[in-house]
Amino acid sequence: MSLPATRPADDWWRSAVVYQVYPRSFADADGDGTGDLNGIRARLPYLAELGIDAIWISPWYPSPLLDGGYDVSDYRDINPEFGTLADADALIAEAHALGIRILIDLVPNHCSWEHPWFKAALAAGKGAPERDLFWFRDGKPGGLPPTNWPAAFGGGAWQQIDDGQWYLHLFDISQPDWNWDHPKVIEEFDAILRFWFDRGVDGFRIDVADSMAKDPALPDVVPQPNGEVTRDKYAGHPTYDQPGVHDIHRRWREIAEEYADSPLGPRVFVAEAWLSPADRLAQYVRPNELHSAFNFDALQCPWDAEALREVIDHTTENFWAVGAPATWVLSNHDTIRHRTRYGRDQKRASMPAGSVPTDLELGRRRARAAALLELALPGGAYIYQGDELGLPEVEDLPEEVLDDPVWERSGHTVRGRDGCRVPIPWSGAEPSFGFGTGGGQPWLPQPADWAELTAEAQTADPDSHLNLYKAALRIRRETEALGEGRLTWDGEAPAGVLSFTRSPGFRCVTNLSESPIPLPAHQQILLTSEPLLDDRLPSDATAWLAI
Ligand code: GLC
Repeated sequence: MSLPATRPADDWWRSAVVYQVYPRSFADADGDGTGDLNGIRARLPYLAELGIDAIWISPWYPSPLLDGGYDVSDYRDINPEFGTLADADALIAEAHALGIRILIDLVPNHCSWEHPWFKAALAAGKGAPERDLFWFRDGKPGGLPPTNWPAAFGGGAWQQIDDGQWYLHLFDISQPDWNWDHPKVIEEFDAILRFWFDRGVDGFRIDVADSMAKDPALPDVVPQPNGEVTRDKYAGHPTYDQPGVHDIHRRWREIAEEYADSPLGPRVFVAEAWLSPADRLAQYVRPNELHSAFNFDALQCPWDAEALREVIDHTTENFWAVGAPATWVLSNHDTIRHRTRYGRDQKRASMPAGSVPTDLELGRRRARAAALLELALPGGAYIYQGDELGLPEVEDLPEEVLDDPVWERSGHTVRGRDGCRVPIPWSGAEPSFGFGTGGGQPWLPQPADWAELTAEAQTADPDSHLNLYKAALRIRRETEALGEGRLTWDGEAPAGVLSFTRSPGFRCVTNLSESPIPLPAHQQILLTSEPLLDDRLPSDATAWLAI
């Protein structure tokens, strides 16, 4: 289990570049149209060559896949569609041999309605102790649910069953919420963590890390002034950011630290918590809690110099105040791919797929500039599979293939997140572009014009998105100033320009203004996201400079 250590083993996560694999859509070794663990194994050399430090694999557990695997029916096994536990062991060992750490996804807020404990709770009937592991309640008079809480994917958060009781699901009806006030739930998750740590995983990404604890009095959500009940995470909200989540995190941190003397070192966590502003999120990464957290303020920030600078400053101030590294992320499996987001009118950048016109060429330039900005900032960075290929959101998937529960739950008004989950194009001239073996078609159709975006085509093109990422990651590894550390803003940068230095000897400048700018002082140009125009940095471009 030893890793070639390039930095002190315990601290690797403070500056790691983590690559997110969405297993269904990454690589399909058995040709059934769905990605699998042997597909990931076959692509590990690609990831090693790309130059990332770790991969985070979205849920790989047995699941009916009603929410892409975030509906877990067994936390200690592998979905047979993806492979076996033996495949997982092999994947972990092979990744480690290449110097790549493995993070997996823990889904502690809810399970699948196919989880045996939920099935037992349904069968046991009203008042049975089996029901205490979840949130079963009687409704209010008049056939109303116990509270007015909304579910994330549309509709209410309570589902009524045959005996009249209701169960809580903050997400899909197929995802019943665990009752974290129950000792059996707490102990079960302790055991799940140890199960995977003992198998050699380096850490977990914690799904909806802000929601496990609920206000036991179950008060209604306070409606907006217009009477609408939204998912606004106001202070004191009954299901978000309750103080109890921190007790759970502290308990897990202790378990992670039990592994301090193991060959892999202590294990780590990254929180998925959509909480803003950064001072609120920073509470999750205090020294005895989770190690790091996704920076969704950065992901949601428009392509605008002032807004980006504000996010960078808020993030660093608040994370550093609690001793945690900042992190940076541009896309994931829940959001519109950033090449598409950045190609839109920035006031409407995060609108649902298919609803806003997009200039993909503009998005391509900005995505390249953003990649160099992201990788130059202090702390850790996340790359979602396909970011490195500059994949756009697929906005025109036919309705009959849409699989995200959001589509059904919104009454076919919101298309959902499938457009960022389209299988990766690896090689060749037509679908499945090397995703699957044997010519079988992938679970979501790929656009025919992705032939020019395949990893194979981009490897051969020195100016490709892929080769930009490879060059950036190589320079990042070789440059002492990059990774963990501090940044200093350049005082004299023109409006619309982000320019900062990192010590020793590094400057990053991103031009978000509409005109080319002269490059600030430097000794050598290390990398630019676009060719210079008469020695000037064009609009929507980033340069890395040695100074
Ligand atoms: C997280 C996941 C998302 C999932 C939800 C419910 O936000 O990233 O994909 O649908 O949690 O588990």
